Amino acid sequence: MKKRVKVSAPGKVILSGEHSVVYGYPAILAAIDKRATVELAGTISGTNGKVLTDLAKYRLDKVVKKLSENFSFSIKSDIPSGSGLGSSAALSVAISAAVTKITGQKWDPEKINEIAYQMEKKHHGNPSGGDNTISTYGGLLWYRKEAEGLKLFKSITPKKRLPKLFLLDTGSPSESTKDMVELVATSRQKNQKRMDKIMIQIELITKKFLHYLLNEKRAMLSELIVENQRLLEELGVVSSSTKALIRKIEKIGGAAKITGAGGVKAGSGMLIVYHPNHQKLLNLAKTNRLATLAIKLGEKGVQTQ
Ligand code: PMV
Repeated sequence: MKKRVKVSAPGKVILSGEHSVVYGYPAILAAIDKRATVELAGTISGTNGKVLTDLAKYRLDKVVKKLSENFSFSIKSDIPSGSGLGSSAALSVAISAAVTKITGQKWDPEKINEIAYQMEKKHHGNPSGGDNTISTYGGLLWYRKEAEGLKLFKSITPKKRLPKLFLLDTGSPSESTKDMVELVATSRQKNQKRMDKIMIQIELITKKFLHYLLNEKRAMLSELIVENQRLLEELGVVSSSTKALIRKIEKIGGAAKITGAGGVKAGSGMLIVYHPNHQKLLNLAKTNRLATLAIKLGEKGVQTQ
């Protein structure tokens, strides 16, 4: 019997903790209102059924190829790719969930997340697992990879309304997430003391961010973003053109940070930008011919359509 399923999963922003999250430091991630949707249809037989059970063995591009060869399969995504918004993780999660559904298995987020993580590993080498986890569960998450076999996360319910944040496109990085994660790993091998010191400082900012969200301690959002960005620059994941743009944003009273892996040779992907006066920011984007995107944080995780 022919079956058809349609599933969508959200992209994400990292409010604090990108890169250091790969080394066991915490991160705060938020699901955004941009989603990857997959539709999968077909009659499951012995041969194509094996494709479905073997999914976690393949890289994401190979998974897409195998599904397209064996089923009616389509992808629609409004998550810009290569911009630090977790587009590949959202696709992995949506595929993992679509397969769960079409094979009549119980809807089990833990299992959906684990299969997506295995796909991410093939794609990115050494991911933290944060991107697929936020895409699976949605909302806002405190996430920490203690060990390969123990990834801890907890949903955060903000005790205050977050001010409006914008995404501003610095241009596509010429490096992949895998390249950027490797770049940080190489710098860490060369100078572990220095890199660990930066990552410990990032953890402190992440904690301050948590207290900010929970309204437990007074903190200025703009200061948290500015400090966070400085530390990411010290990690070496931001290009000079992106740094120059961020200095311009700061000069007009705003704050901006990269979100995700970043990039050093060309663009650094999307920036999360805060400015108390939206118009000032939009004017700056217009003068610099930069695309902006308003985003909502804390959106729903993977779901059937
Ligand atoms: O650029 P993205 O959306 O792939 O995010 C990468 C986030 C990193 O912290 C740099 C890597 C990871 O696996 O968490």
